[in-house]
Amino acid sequence: MADLVVGLQWGDEGKGKVVDLLAKHYDIVVRYQGGHNAGHTIVVDGKKIALHLLPSGVLYPHCQNVIGNGVVIEPHSLMREIEQFGADSLKGRLFISDRAHVILPLHARLDVLREKLKGKEAIGTTGKGIGPSYADKVSRIGVRMGELKDFSQLKNKMQFAYKELQILAQAMGEEIESLDEVVGSLYEVSQTLLPFVCDSVHFLWEAQNQKKKILLEGAQGSMLDLDHGTYPFVTSSTTISAGACSGTGINVREIGEVIGIAKAYCTRVGNGPFPSEEFGDVGTLIQNKGGEFGTTTGRSRRCGWFDAVALRYACKLNGCTQIALMKLDVLDGFEEIKVCTHYEYRGEKIDYIPYDYQEVKPIYQSFKGWSQTYGVRSRDALPQEAKDYIEALEHLVGVRISIISTSPDREDAIL
Ligand code: GDP
Ligand code: IMO
Ligand code: MG
Repeated sequence: MADLVVGLQWGDEGKGKVVDLLAKHYDIVVRYQGGHNAGHTIVVDGKKIALHLLPSGVLYPHCQNVIGNGVVIEPHSLMREIEQFGADSLKGRLFISDRAHVILPLHARLDVLREKLKGKEAIGTTGKGIGPSYADKVSRIGVRMGELKDFSQLKNKMQFAYKELQILAQAMGEEIESLDEVVGSLYEVSQTLLPFVCDSVHFLWEAQNQKKKILLEGAQGSMLDLDHGTYPFVTSSTTISAGACSGTGINVREIGEVIGIAKAYCTRVGNGPFPSEEFGDVGTLIQNKGGEFGTTTGRSRRCGWFDAVALRYACKLNGCTQIALMKLDVLDGFEEIKVCTHYEYRGEKIDYIPYDYQEVKPIYQSFKGWSQTYGVRSRDALPQEAKDYIEALEHLVGVRISIISTSPDREDAIL
């Protein structure tokens, strides 16, 4: 069996902290989709570590870490992360799927150029080349990590995709590096990465035979899912639990607990609908108290109240068996806390996500605030108002809240 951690909102829910918290009880942590658009933060004894591609089990020496076939890998970015920990210390602890697709420099260039062309209609991507890389995978012209073992075919293969970039860049007056330069730098970096590249599916099946405990780590969030999110303002992978099966080779019958991660409020970075967004002082206060600035791009995150309609939707999509409620402490000191329980849509009160999601308006229920939860480590020690808030969320969403997080630090959580 494999348990799963998945974001229920628009990403940055605190998946890194939860995976780190749980990883001590697991043998293997596996990333199954996304790429270095992800930024997962772990704080241990006040020291902050931001992970983009490495699974959040890397801080435990006993933990093996797998980058699954569903991930898209920018080799230079991965190399930098590996070097941060020291390649030697990751030997025997890091396994990179030979089926994972490579993000080439041309993908990042295309990502940025397309966004520029869209102008006001831009998605607000991270500019990391995620979309173009997955598009090449789907078009069956992508390069896989396993292909870095043999460079003789690579330049030929990349020529076609590179041409498109050349035409676009030229038209937009942008300089791009030559294909030879790209292939050369790819060759250099592949020397560090290749020792970690393996058949990850086989590795995971063997681990299952040996009854090893596996934790699957999602990136992004359910509302950014390619099919079920707020398209086109989404990422280009299946972020929901279903993506874990295709992204690792672990079959659906072998998924155990599905732990959905949600903040006690909502944030979104990039463009697209966000019904419970707060534009005034409340939004700014949440942003500052929650340190809501992107781990990957440094952009400020849009902030608003907890959206129970979106959460119910995400829990159903993922089959959540429990929820980890994060950043409760950020709401400390608010006199009034609101929760979106329904939407108003074309004059009606609804409790689902309609196709024309940008048209919905939030309908709120108000809760009395509390003074302090920061650093609290037992449910009994929470102020009564905070207990009431959590119980109301459980009731509104219909899933048990089994973890409550009260600070960025690894130790500050109620289990
Ligand atoms: P992820 O992408 O889902 O892993 O989340 P990020 O790391 O991008 O963003 C979550 C941010 O909130 C990080 O800076 C965490 O250190 C921080 N964080 C996580 N849990 C808590 C919490 O309970 N309280 C506070 N104040 N910060 C938290
Ligand atoms: P973690 O794993 C928050 C958002 C981008 C943009 C949209 C598409 O840290 O939660 P992309 O570059 O993926 O094509 O951008 O998705 N986005 C994230 N937002 N957290 C993330 O990852 C994100 N990864 C992508 O801001 O709106
Ligand atoms: Mg993040």
